[in-house]
Amino acid sequence: MERIRTQVGIVGAGPAGLLLGHLLHLEGIESIQIENRSREYCESRIRAGVLECGTAELLAQAGVGERMKREGMVHQGVYLRFRRRSHHVLFPELTGGKCITVYGQHEVVKDLIAARLGAGARISFEVEGVEVNELETRTPRIRFRHGGEEHEIVCDFIAGCDGFHGVCRPSIPAGKLQTYEEVYPFGWLGILATVAPSSDEIVYTRHERGFALLSMRSPEVSRLYIQCAPEEDVGAWSDERIWAEMQKRFATDDGWTLREGPITQKGVTAMRGFLVEPMQYGRLYLLGDAAHIVPPTGAKGLNLAVADVRVFARALEAFYKRGSTELLERYSEICLRRVWKAERFSNWMTRMLHLGNGSEFVERLHLAELDYVTSSRAAMTTLAENYVGLPYEEC
Ligand code: FAD
Ligand code: DHB
Repeated sequence: MERIRTQVGIVGAGPAGLLLGHLLHLEGIESIQIENRSREYCESRIRAGVLECGTAELLAQAGVGERMKREGMVHQGVYLRFRRRSHHVLFPELTGGKCITVYGQHEVVKDLIAARLGAGARISFEVEGVEVNELETRTPRIRFRHGGEEHEIVCDFIAGCDGFHGVCRPSIPAGKLQTYEEVYPFGWLGILATVAPSSDEIVYTRHERGFALLSMRSPEVSRLYIQCAPEEDVGAWSDERIWAEMQKRFATDDGWTLREGPITQKGVTAMRGFLVEPMQYGRLYLLGDAAHIVPPTGAKGLNLAVADVRVFARALEAFYKRGSTELLERYSEICLRRVWKAERFSNWMTRMLHLGNGSEFVERLHLAELDYVTSSRAAMTTLAENYVGLPYEEC
């Protein structure tokens, strides 16, 4: 067995794990990273697309924002569409000048992998049999197989960045974490299509047939979603059926048209809210989806992962440079304040925009909520400040 010593062992090479490795490198803190999928898989996994203002700034300050600045699309707002009419919510005037950047998560991942490998980082892809052990000691260990060999990383800290289905969170002994969960009775059928986006900015639509969302990845590629059942069979959705359904849900009375094109990817995502308290056990710290999930309607998942990484990287910097454990001890508390607010916002957006929340009375309340949000500056401001990203917690 090969045994390696490092300061921080990182499990998972999604956005959380990659950004953490990069920020630690900038502070001269050593890490080793393992990932159970291939590099190609990680770089082509289509997921989120909206970067909060703070996320984009953080990536740029960390020196990995060059392509994002060139190819990412800065948006000033979003459209809320209901009763066949679109309402523009403009962020800068409601938030003191803040915007969002539409740039695919897989592009962020590509940029980070290139930066890590360019800096000589050690990332092992396609590892198997990952285990995390001795979490209560000062030298927690990660065991895995790679290329037929057994390996062990002996670390000062383990960063569990292995997503919702990873091994880190389940390795924490029963009873040490409090779990909170909300399963929503909706799913999203998401597609990627080779067609110029039909709108200059993202459109969130509530329709009597269900929610629909129009987003984009580039001037040539559209990303769209429609509300479906959580266990919907993608196979039942031909391209023709998808476009026909989208045409109905996005329809307006003002002459706007939805452009159609070849569909290159389809997938169904179930929706849940989930989090654990605390986000840490011994010397294992959980970051991103490993610790919490939000329904995607507020576009918060990726941004929360980045916010956790920011706090954890600062906590490790304080530990290694000043011997201070104060931030490490407060890591979970600091992150969870933001996570709960994101759960709140995502829950609110999800309930307001989807169909099938409850009685006809409740459905009408959600329509009234949309009417209110699009007509009151105060209500619009609460949407805007959450959407562009609440200020980072002091740390
Ligand atoms: P992940 O991106 O999940 O990364 C975890 C990494 O760990 C993965 O590369 C995984 O392969 C690896 N891993 C897992 N197990 C192991 C193991 N045992 N050993 C080693 N490595 C392991 N958010 C939005 O805001 N908008 C969206 O539209 C949206 N769509 C989504 C669609 C899907 C299908 C999913 C699953 C999530 C979506 N999200 C969306 C959420 C957003 O993508 C996540 O919040 C974000 O990926 C979190 O980053 P992460 O690094 O914490 O986790
Ligand atoms: C996208 C995803 C979201 O969850 C959202 O709320 C807005 C846009 C996207 O994939 O582009």
